[in-house]
Order: sequence, then C-alpha cells, then structure tokens
Amino acid sequence: MPFQHGPWTVPTQRGLAAVSLIVLALLALAQLQVAPVESRFAARSDNFKQADSPFLSKARDTAAGDKYLIGVGKADITGPVVEVNFAGYANLDQVGSGLRQRIYARSFIIGEVGTNNRFVYLILDTQSGDTAVRNGILEGLAALGSGYSVYGRSNVAVTGTHSHSGPGGWFNYLLPQLTSLGFDRQGYQAIVDGAVLSIKRAHESLQEGYLDFGTTRISDANINRSPSAYLANPESERAQYADDVDKYLTLLRFKRASDGKNIGVLTWFAVHPTSVQGNNTHVTGDNKGLAAYLFEQSAKADDQAADGFVASFSQANVGDTSPNVLGAWCEDGSGQMCDFHTSTCPDGTSQSCRSRGPMFHIADLGISSCAVIAQRQFSGAKELYDSLDSTSTAVVGSTVRSFHYFNDMQYYTFPLDNGTIVRTCPAALGHSFAAGTTDWPGFADFTQGDSGAPNNPLWSVVGGFLRAPSPEQKDCQEPKPILLDVGEMSLPYAWSPNIVDVQSLRVGQFIMIVSPTEASTMAGRRWRNAVKAAASESGLTGDYEPFVVLGGPANTYAHYVTTPEEYAVQRYEGASTLYGQWELPAYINLTLRALPFLSATSSGSPPPGPSPPDNRERSLSFITGVVQDSAPLGTSFGAVRTQPASSYARGSVVNATFVGANPRNNLRLEGTFAAVERLGSGEDGGSTWAQVLSDADWRLVYSWERTNFVLGHSEVTISWETDPQLDAAGTYRLRYYGDAKPLIGNIRAFTGTTDSFTLS
Ligand SMILES: *[C@@H]1O[C@H](CO)[C@@H](O)[C@H](O)[C@H]1NC(C)=O
Ligand SMILES: *[C@@H]1O[C@H](CO)[C@@H](O)[C@H](O)[C@H]1NC(C)=O
Ligand SMILES: *[C@@H]1O[C@H](CO)[C@@H](O)[C@H](O)[C@H]1NC(C)=O
Ligand SMILES: *[C@@H]1O[C@H](CO)[C@@H](O)[C@H](O)[C@H]1NC(C)=O
Repeated sequence: MPFQHGPWTVPTQRGLAAVSLIVLALLALAQLQVAPVESRFAARSDNFKQADSPFLSKARDTAAGDKYLIGVGKADITGPVVEVNFAGYANLDQVGSGLRQRIYARSFIIGEVGTNNRFVYLILDTQSGDTAVRNGILEGLAALGSGYSVYGRSNVAVTGTHSHSGPGGWFNYLLPQLTSLGFDRQGYQAIVDGAVLSIKRAHESLQEGYLDFGTTRISDANINRSPSAYLANPESERAQYADDVDKYLTLLRFKRASDGKNIGVLTWFAVHPTSVQGNNTHVTGDNKGLAAYLFEQSAKADDQAADGFVASFSQANVGDTSPNVLGAWCEDGSGQMCDFHTSTCPDGTSQSCRSRGPMFHIADLGISSCAVIAQRQFSGAKELYDSLDSTSTAVVGSTVRSFHYFNDMQYYTFPLDNGTIVRTCPAALGHSFAAGTTDWPGFADFTQGDSGAPNNPLWSVVGGFLRAPSPEQKDCQEPKPILLDVGEMSLPYAWSPNIVDVQSLRVGQFIMIVSPTEASTMAGRRWRNAVKAAASESGLTGDYEPFVVLGGPANTYAHYVTTPEEYAVQRYEGASTLYGQWELPAYINLTLRALPFLSATSSGSPPPGPSPPDNRERSLSFITGVVQDSAPLGTSFGAVRTQPASSYARGSVVNATFVGANPRNNLRLEGTFAAVERLGSGEDGGSTWAQVLSDADWRLVYSWERTNFVLGHSEVTISWETDPQLDAAGTYRLRYYGDAKPLIGNIRAFTGTTDSFTLS
C-alpha cells in the first residue's frame, strides 16, 4: 500500500477561478509568495488593518475576527422509545418503556466566504457516531441534490454525545448489535433522517458571521473513574496538569454579521453521559442532552440570541471520566469505597460497586443527578457565553479545511517518536471489558485490572469459542488478555471495526480532531498536544497559536483509546483499547500525516483508504414489529383511565393514564406524544388552550405499558413534574397523541384529553 509509506503530496490550490488567479498573481507580486496566508495577519492588532486577503469579500469588522459562512440546524432523531434495548450500558434488561426527553441531531456548518471550503460538525444525542448511520447520512445528503454536493465524506463529522439512555440497534457492527437483538431499521432511519434534516436546516441558514471562543473551568461535573490507570502515566507528565480529568469546557460562539445576534454555541467538555443509570428505561439525552436543552431554553429569553438558536454539548476526551462525582462505593452494606485498583467489594467481585452521582440518595435512576451535572455544564457554558464579548479569542485566518480517510488498523506499522517501529493489531477486547465500569458493572464478575486469569472462566470459554485468537494476535495485543477477538471475527459479518475514520477539521487557528474512539484524559491530551505542536512547527496557523479540541466518539464506534502506560494496567478502558498498546501513537501518526491537508495552500485530500464493510443490508434482527393494538371492550384509544386530581400545588407530580397504543406505530418525529396545555385568554376574548410543554421537555414524561400482549392492549401514563419556579399558576389539561395499528388495515392517529385541573 504505497500511501502507508513516505509522506503524501499535498496538492496546492489549482481549482480557483480565473478571477481569483489574477488577484492572487497580483498579490503574489507584493507578498503572498513568501508567506502562508495566515502569517500575513501577523498580530492581532495588525490583523484588522489587512484588507487585502483574496478570501475576504468585505473589509473586516473591527470588533471581531474574520468572516465565515456559518449555519446551525437541529432536528428530532427520537427512534422507538419502547421495546428496543438502549445503547451504552450493554444491559439486556434495559429495554425502552417511554420518553423523558426527545433526542436530537444538531449541525454546525462553517465555511469560507466565497469558496466551497466548508465542513459540518454534527452532534447526535446518541451513544456514538457510526458507520451505518454515517453512510445513511451521506446518501441522504446526496439525495438532496446539487446544492448539497459540497457536503461529503471528507467534510461531514458525525459525532455522538455518548448518551447511554437512547434506543440502540442502529450500529453497523455485530458486537454492539448483540444487546439490541440486531439491527433496528426504524431507529436507524430516524437518526439518519433527523441528521440530514439538521444539516439541511443549517445549510439553509448559512450566512456571514463571526466565530470566537473561550474556555472555562467546571470543577464539579466530572471525575476520573480509573485513577489507578491514570497514575501509570509518567509523573513528569502528570505534573503538568492540576487534575486527572480535563475540567475545561471550550465554547465556540456563532455570531451572525447581519445584526450581531448569536445563532448558536458549540461546546466541548469531557464527561460520560452516564448520570442516568443502566436500569432507566425512558429515553433521554442524559447530562449532555439536558444541558443543551437548558441552554436553548435560556436563549429564548436572551435578546442577543437569534430565533432558532442551537446549543450543543459535544463530547471530548471522555474515556476515563465519570459524572458520578462522589466516587465508587460498595452498595453491599459494607459502607466501603470500592477497591482503588480493581473496583471490587468485600465479596471479591465488582457487582455491588456503583459510582455515586451528586443526588445518589434519591432513588430515581439517576434522574436528579443527571439534572445537577447538566446544570453544572450549562451554568459554566452560560457564564462563559455571557462574558465572551470581553474575554473571547476571535477565530482568525479565514481558512476552512477538513480531511477524512479510512485506515486499516490491522497491523498498521509506523515509527514511534524514538524511531522504534511498532504496529497496531486487529480489534480485540480484554477481560476487564466484561467487568464494565463503576458507572455500571458488566454482567460477569470479572475483576477490573485483572490481566491474568479471570475469576469466572465462563467468558473466557465463550470468547475463545467464538474465535480463538491467533498466536500473532495474542502477541500483538500484549499485555491484554483477549476475551473477545472481535477484529478477527467476520461471521456472520464483522463484529467490530478494523477500518477507522481519520478526520480533522480546521477553521482559522481552531482545529478539531474527530476521534472514532473514546480517548482517555491523558490520551486526549497527548493527541491534542501533538497536533498543536505540529501545527505550530509547520506554521499551519501562521502567527496565531493553534487551538485544538478533540470531539467524539465519531463516525464509527471504535471503543476506547488509552495511553500505552494505561493500557498496561488493563482496566476497562485499556481492555477496550481495540488495536493494542500502540493505538494512541498510531492515531497521532495518522492525524499528523494528513495535517498538511488543513493548510491554507492545500486544495487536496489524502487517498480515501480502504472502505469499511457496510453491514446495513446483511445485519440480523430479532426485533419484532408491532402486531396490533386494540382498546379493551367498552373503551376507545385515548380514553382517560385515570384523571388527574382537580387541583395541585406547584412542585407536585400530575399524572394521567390513557388507553394507549404502541408508540412504534408512529415516532411522531418533530411532534410529540404528550402535551401540557394551559387555558388562556384568546385574542378574540375567548378562552383557548395553548400547548406549553411537549415530550421534548425534561419534566413531561411519557410511559407506555403493555397490559395484554395477545389482545394488544396498552396503557400510557403522562407525568408532569411541575416546578414552583418554572410553571405558572393556572388551569391546565394533559393531552396524549397516539397511533393505533389494527390487525388488518391502516395505522390511525387519535388523541386523548384529560379534564382540566388547576395548579396553584
Ligand atoms: C437501579 O439501579 C440502581 C443502581 O444499581 C439501584 O440502586 C436501584 O435500586 C435500581 N432501581 C430499580 C428500580 O431497579
Ligand atoms: C507515520 O508513519 C508513517 C509510516 O506508516 C511514516 O512514514 C510517517 O513519517 C509517520 N508520520 C509521522 C508524522 O509520524
Ligand atoms: C522507544 O520507545 C518505546 C516506548 O516507550 C520503547 O518500548 C522502546 O524500547 C524505545 N526504543 C528505543 C530504541 O529506545
Ligand atoms: C405517576 O406515574 C408514573 C409512571 O407510571 C409513576 O412512576 C409515578 O409513581 C406516578 N406518580 C404519582 C404521584 O402518581
């Protein structure tokens, strides 16, 4: 494979229009030939004096950096909320039973003014980006027609927030399909369609504007869940950092030029969305989805924010982080913390070891803890946003570039910094993978950090039975004891990715590494630092200091990447580092190789590399469809079974139960299954009901329960958790929107409405 050896040649701009060429030629006479584009913007104060850039259509606003094309968009991706397993915890029992909060795709487009250089940073409220979903999105964009041909493989980054409380079943590979009983086309399509719609909306909103960014410290929203592995990193390296997780949130603000209003914010902060526990069965976006909701709600009352403001909380080097900031405890009555190295309890297993969120004492499946961790991220981001006018750094340099290519991680050979040649391996998971984490244990009593024989031989037997690793693979994966040799298992189709997406995006001095894995804290730092150093050395961002963020898990789901030192410890994250101990240096090598493609003088792309398998058409599924719904004799769909009381004090829970039907009949995307309506005075003086909350709102919960499997009876409960601060006193009613499937005939929509009640 020629492109694995030696540097790629990076083509320079050849495709510029004739007019631009003349302009360039004239400018070259003066200074262009001797300096890269950005270095002409030598210092911040000089920056605004330069009006000679060929990329600028107008003189620069003296109050900001350069102008870019910016656009934001958001769309609903909520798949089946019942009867499908959730993605993230790999808990077979975690099957959906309702909806607390709709989940979304949020798209941010950044482009150069006057060229087609553009990228899309997409954030899904899902466990990760994915190859099947990404292929679907790229096909969906192509189907939108020629106006969208500017978006493709190279410049669309499909990231996930890593939420653990949304439906699964949309993955390209077999291993993450196992707990969901295979591939679920309905949920897959919901994500793909919503993602494409969010990009379309962002595209339609494209306009000129400015970008600036800042960082803030959020001290109390994350901790390290594998500190013993972190301690394996060199002391001199650890001494450079105050914490064993990154406590900084980065915020990129999108401000439109026309009236100076903000159209959105994109943030990065490293924390697992595992606040909501592995036995919750209501769909939510966990702490990231709720933080985004809180920011978008706040924007409605912010006169600096434009209508349609989009806020996103993207994931960063999440690998070893936990939102359960009170630490890991043995919930076995012993009152002890779990063992520092192995996360085991006095019984010798990790089954009773649970990390505690800030509100762990409230037995509500982590919902209250989630609200606190979301609030902490939102508050930090909002304070930063409010202070940005005086503290931010403008994104300068005009250049927008991206690259993407696939790399086969089976035996990728490359030199370490000291010249030693090493290689990566086919994907494999180690024993500690089965132990799970302190955020939720695995289903076998493997102990964490066990790089020798597991306590329970069952999983070794099953793993070995599925595919015994070759001696070469065992050797390559050292010191990982292999539990599941997923990279060498391709029957009935590939279990895990061996081919990964290597991608980075760049606007001005702001560089985004798009990671297919969950990088551990130190892995993320090394990767960012390496990119920053290489960008500085090569003058990529001129005289402006490069600023590097890492987002993911994106494009596919390649589990974790730790540092080689952490890998040697083989806790969950090390055991889930698929491609062996040199995976991180390999990712750094792969990113740095292609970095020149982010240069202002580059107009090319790296060779696309080998295509990963597309398993969408060959995936197995044991997820059964809806057979029928029927209403019990003497009732009808939407009839109220249990009315709310006639009055409530604010702060109490209002409940109503209806004769229901299966919500998988119609996902009601961009709509709702539930609503709170308030009685108000109409403009004509009459009384009208207006919807004040939908199932997108965290405090309005939709629950579905099958009451008779054979006859297809079910009940829906709508619960409104009223809030003294947020809900006004008044007269209200609840509404239920459903769709019923008869045994024969078409699905039919219906509604149910409760009696009115007062809230005071
Ligand atoms: C959910 O899991 C938590 C943590 O293990 C446990 O404390 C709680 O009792 C469980 N709740 C239910 C309803 O099963
Ligand atoms: C990455 O590895 C390749 C060999 O696969 C080597 O030619 C190249 O110099 C390395 N690049 C960097 C930036 O380390
Ligand atoms: C280079 O570094 C690696 C990783 O630290 C080490 O295993 C190897 O022995 C080093 N090689 C040399 C020649 O020092
Ligand atoms: C309301 O309904 C939910 C869902 O069925 C249930 O968990 C909760 O206990 C009910 N609350 C009240 C106050 O009736």
